[in-house]
Amino acid sequence: MKKIRIQAGRPYTVMVGEGIRTQAGRMIADTLPEAASTVIISDTNVAPLYLEQIKDTIEQAGLSVYSKVIPAGEASKNLSVYSEILSFLAEQKLTRSDVIIALGGGVVGDLAGFAAATFLRGVPYVQIPTSLLAMVDSSVGGKTAVDLPAGKNLAGAFYQPSVVICDPEVLHTLPDSYLRDGCAEVIKYGVLEDEMLFSRLMTEGIRFDRVPVISRCIEIKAHYVAEDEFDQGLRQKLNLGHTFGHAIEASSHFSVTHGQAVAAGMCMIARASCALGFCRKSCVDAIEACVREFGLPDSGDKLAEELLPYVFSDKKRRADSISLIVPRQIGQCDVMAVGADDITSWLKGALKHESND
Ligand code: GLY
Repeated sequence: MKKIRIQAGRPYTVMVGEGIRTQAGRMIADTLPEAASTVIISDTNVAPLYLEQIKDTIEQAGLSVYSKVIPAGEASKNLSVYSEILSFLAEQKLTRSDVIIALGGGVVGDLAGFAAATFLRGVPYVQIPTSLLAMVDSSVGGKTAVDLPAGKNLAGAFYQPSVVICDPEVLHTLPDSYLRDGCAEVIKYGVLEDEMLFSRLMTEGIRFDRVPVISRCIEIKAHYVAEDEFDQGLRQKLNLGHTFGHAIEASSHFSVTHGQAVAAGMCMIARASCALGFCRKSCVDAIEACVREFGLPDSGDKLAEELLPYVFSDKKRRADSISLIVPRQIGQCDVMAVGADDITSWLKGALKHESND
């Protein structure tokens, strides 16, 4: 089993290992020795597969278990489901020494984490991610949130889990399209920081060796979180591909998935970087080839004018500029503040059908 320490304000460990979910009870009891009760939050896709197993291991560790299952999907990440979860925690009389367990993908993790951050002004929580995206990204680093009618993740808090139990064995039951979606975030870490990881992904493709690759992604994220827990500088690099990606996702009314949008967004920012002289064409070719290897798209189908309003509504925008994460070569990206007046030329350079104008 691999252990990765996250040096946040409140440090914790991410455990990564095949089959370790069966030891979750002991890991939680060791990490939180004062806990007596647990509430597992899961969803209608994950609960039938893993809820009983996780309940058993926790009960064997001497803790009592309650569970709340929410409908699967992003539509659940709203204030009404959040409020239902808070009421459930209150009904079970959960205390500040007890623990909430997020068993699921990004939606469950974000919701359960936000409930943990706010119930009784903070209750410990544990992440047991079951999607690739949640393993390499959302379960680590303490970003918790719900969506508002005005946009995704608009209400949230930075609140770190007490331990993350990451068992790649559960990816066997993840539908192929979800697995490929998560691969966009894995490729992102290679482009950001690690040429060897990137080459490995090109060679091994979708069958990449789970524990070392997932662990390497988490190590890179751990470094960013330790340096910049509250997302004011270095951590923004995790946004590679996301500014244009979010615009593709939102302009498609979310018919394009997050992973597809991030993959296309990464290729777009690489093309723009090349068009403006910041990286070589070989870097663009490599990123495009890699996303295609994973069955992900290397472009969207919208024009610059159609994407522009969505780029400006990105919540990471500052008063008069947007931070773009710009590839310089595989394994090296820079954060660049791009003024509102210049963003159109970046977008035009980014789009396959407009880059030769
Ligand atoms: N998902 C990006 C971050 O954790 O900062």
